Amino acid sequence: MFDKKIYIERRNRLKKLCKHGVIVLPGNQKSPRNYKGNDYNFDQDSNFLYYFGIDIPNLIGVIDIDKNKEYIFGTDYTLDDIVWMGEQKLLKSFAQDSGVENFIELKEFDSFASSLLKEEKRILILPQYRGETILHLSKAFGLDPMRINDYASETLIKAVVDQRNIKSELEIKEIENAVNITREMHLEAMKVTKPGIKEYEVVAALEAVAAKHNATTSFFTIFTKNGQTLHNHFHGNTLKDGDSVILDCGARNINGYCGDMTTSFPVNGKFSPRQKDIYSLLIEMFDTAEKMIKPGINYKDVHLEISRVLTKGMIKRGLMKGDVDKAVSAGAHAIFMPHGLGHMLGLDVHDMEGLGEDYVGYDKFPRDPQFGLNALRLARDLKPGFVFTVEPGIYFIPELIKRWKTADKFTEFLNYDAIETYCDFGGMRYEGDFLITETGARRLGEKMPKYPQEIEEIMNK
Ligand code: GLY
Ligand code: MN
Ligand code: MN
Repeated sequence: MFDKKIYIERRNRLKKLCKHGVIVLPGNQKSPRNYKGNDYNFDQDSNFLYYFGIDIPNLIGVIDIDKNKEYIFGTDYTLDDIVWMGEQKLLKSFAQDSGVENFIELKEFDSFASSLLKEEKRILILPQYRGETILHLSKAFGLDPMRINDYASETLIKAVVDQRNIKSELEIKEIENAVNITREMHLEAMKVTKPGIKEYEVVAALEAVAAKHNATTSFFTIFTKNGQTLHNHFHGNTLKDGDSVILDCGARNINGYCGDMTTSFPVNGKFSPRQKDIYSLLIEMFDTAEKMIKPGINYKDVHLEISRVLTKGMIKRGLMKGDVDKAVSAGAHAIFMPHGLGHMLGLDVHDMEGLGEDYVGYDKFPRDPQFGLNALRLARDLKPGFVFTVEPGIYFIPELIKRWKTADKFTEFLNYDAIETYCDFGGMRYEGDFLITETGARRLGEKMPKYPQEIEEIMNK
C-alpha cells in the first residue's frame, strides 16, 4: 500500500471527473477452488486497489461526491478467525491508511444502498465480472443480476479509463519493477531450456523466479512449442532438438502491477536458418514499431505499418504476392498475424479490460471488424504516460491456412503452396513493454535479449 495521499488524490480526481452522484466500488472476494476455505490466490479488483489500496477481500468502497464523504464497508475478523489466521489488523485502520474517514460494518451496506435509492441518488457502478459481487450489488440495489452490467455508468467508466490510462511516476516505477522480474523469468527459461526437458519443468523454473521476488504471475504462463496457438496453456510436451518455443509470461508484483513479455527461442540454443529467417522478419516488425511510437501517433497506424513490413517480408520470401498496400487493406497478411500489436498494461495485464476493451483502447473511431484488426486492443493517439505492449507475431496456423485455401481466400495475395511448406513451423512472437514520454518512448526494464546472437549467448553460457 502506498501513502494515503496517493489514494486521496486519485479519489479527488475521480470526483472531479464524475461531478456528482455516489460511486460504489466493490473489492473482490475470495474465490474458492473446490470448497469454501480452499481458495485461489487472492487478486484484489484493480479499480478498488487503485482508489483505495487495501489488498484484502470482502470490502466495498463508496465515494459520495454530493456529500463529500467516503466509506469503507467491511467485516472485522472474529476471535475464532484469529485463532486460525493469527492476529489481524482492524479494518478501521486499513480505512485510515487509505485516507477514508468512515468505516461501516458490511452488514449495513444493504440499508445504506436503500437510503441512496430513497434519496434518488445517481449511483455510479462499473461493469462487474465476479458472481458474488454481482449478486450482492443486485440484491442491495434491487437490480436483475443477469442485467446488472446494463446499469454500469459510462461516465464512471470513461473517468476511470482517462485517469488510469496515464501512469504516474510511482506507477511507472512499479510496472518497471514487474517488468524486471518478468525479464529474469525469461532469462531463466532460456538458461534451462534444452532438448529432452518437459515444458512444465521450464514453467516451474521460471515461475520460481517470480516467487523468489515475492511476486505472482500476471496471467497463466504460455510456454509452448506450439506457438501457432496464440494462447496455448498446455505445458505437457517434451521439447526436442529442432523445436522452437514461445514464452509469454509476466510477473505481478507485491503492489499489483504487471509485466508482460514474450520471447521466442530455439530449444537447442541455436536458431536454424529457417527459424532465424522468420525471426529476423519478426524483429524487423518490432523495431519498426519501436521507432514509430511517440506522442501523437495513432497505434492503429503503427499496427498497419508493421503489417506492411510483414507483407513485404512475405513477398520477399515468396509466401505472398501483389501490391503491399492492397494486401494490407484487404487483411490478407492476417493469416500470419491474426492479433493486434498490443494493449495497455498496468494493474491488469490487459489494463482495465474488465471495463470494456473499446473504452480503454478506442476513442477516435470504432474498432474495425476485419479479421486481425478486430483483435487490435489499442487504437488511440499515444500520449505521455501511456504504458503498453508492442507484440508482433508470425504464425503458421494449419487449420487457418487450410480453410482459407479451400475457400480461395485472397488468392491474389497468398501463395498457398509456399505457405503450406511452413505448416510444421509453429509460431513466433516478441513482446516488450513501453512508456510514452514527452518526446518519444522508452522500453521499460533492463536490456532484454532480442537479436538471435544475444539469445544464443544466454542459452549457451
Ligand atoms: N499475455 C497475453 C498477451 O500478451 O496479451
Ligand atoms: Mn504477453
Ligand atoms: Mn501482451
